[in-house]
Amino acid sequence: MKKVVLVTGASGYLGGRLCHALLNQGYCVKAFVRKTSDLSSLPPPTGAASTGGGTLQYVYGDVTDYQSLLEAFSGCHVIFHAAALVEPWIPDPSRFTTVNVGGLRNVLNAYKETNTIEKIIHTSSFFALGSTDGHIGDETQVHSAKYFCTEYEKSKAVADKIALEAAAEGVPIVPVYPGVIYGPGKVTTGNMVALLLVERFNYRLPGYMGEEKGFSFSHVDDVVQGHIAALDKGRPGERYLLTGENASFKDVFDIAATITQTAKPRFRIPLFLIEVYGWLSVLFARITGKLPLLSPPTANVLRHQWAYNCDKAKTELGYNPRSLKEGLTEMLPWLKSSGLIKY
Ligand SMILES: NC(=O)c1ccc[n+]([C@@H]2O[C@H](COP(=O)([O-])OP(=O)(O)OC[C@H]3O[C@@H](n4cnc5c(N)ncnc54)[C@H](OP(=O)(O)O)[C@@H]3O)[C@@H](O)[C@H]2O)c1
Repeated sequence: MKKVVLVTGASGYLGGRLCHALLNQGYCVKAFVRKTSDLSSLPPPTGAASTGGGTLQYVYGDVTDYQSLLEAFSGCHVIFHAAALVEPWIPDPSRFTTVNVGGLRNVLNAYKETNTIEKIIHTSSFFALGSTDGHIGDETQVHSAKYFCTEYEKSKAVADKIALEAAAEGVPIVPVYPGVIYGPGKVTTGNMVALLLVERFNYRLPGYMGEEKGFSFSHVDDVVQGHIAALDKGRPGERYLLTGENASFKDVFDIAATITQTAKPRFRIPLFLIEVYGWLSVLFARITGKLPLLSPPTANVLRHQWAYNCDKAKTELGYNPRSLKEGLTEMLPWLKSSGLIKY
């Protein structure tokens, strides 16, 4: 019998790609979406037959609405919990706790009331482990919880603790920790590399951003494969970093310039200027209601290093992340063919 898998956050950047991959592998996929979700990145719901033999059904709800989750979980064997509020800044920061922490609590409670579920894959984040100034982090790193650059980071760290506590109580939950996800797919705030490349190639971001701290860049399709491998091989309660090449945003812009044979930025925008721009953007956002691309928390994040080692996922899950150059070589023509950039 085919496994029935439910994906929360199915309308998002990662969740959409995950649904496509699960369908291609023949799973019966329940895409958990909101009534308000933009479903353009998902295939239409299928009948019994579809590409690769999988089926897709939309189930409507909200992770903050326990009853909707409980009903959606009925008959499911696997839950991929990828839904989250992914923003560096929003006017009401309490929403991060409501969605990212409360949502996971609801998932765990709904699991306890559904007797068919064999495994939960929880999409955590490198932010849940904290910054890695002066070293390369791995799965043993515990967030110091003394300082958070963003409320989003705080909510992911709190949710991570809850996921690990649940695992210790016997819940079959496998937390996975992607790095900065990039690559083709829906251009949401989650696809920050795409958003920054769009700014760069449309002449709205003239320089490098601040210092040259390291981030770990994970191609979206590698992260998707890492999630599916965690379903097959992940040990409950074990953390798996689904990170990639450790590099800087300067490297991203330089590699992009080389691939597209365009000019590299000639100067660096100091972090204090990015912060000032962030404060102005936040002010503007409060008036217009449109969320800013850069905000003061973004400048906080850029002040730190977020570099990780994913050897454990390579060994146990067969995770095989591509290089940043390989990923960008695929991503840039996609951005061009989508009409988002010209070169
Ligand atoms: N992007 C990254 O660089 C990155 C890195 C590490 C970890 N992650 C994690 O990866 C996961 C997916 O992120 P993403 O980049 O795909 O973000 P995204 O594109 O913003 O997608 C977020 C998804 O969560 C859904 N969602 C938000 N609030 C919800 C609610 N109250 N109820 C139900 N669904 C809700 C959104 O639905 P709507 O479409 O209706 O808004 C959307 O489908 C998140 O857990 C994130 O923390 C992301």
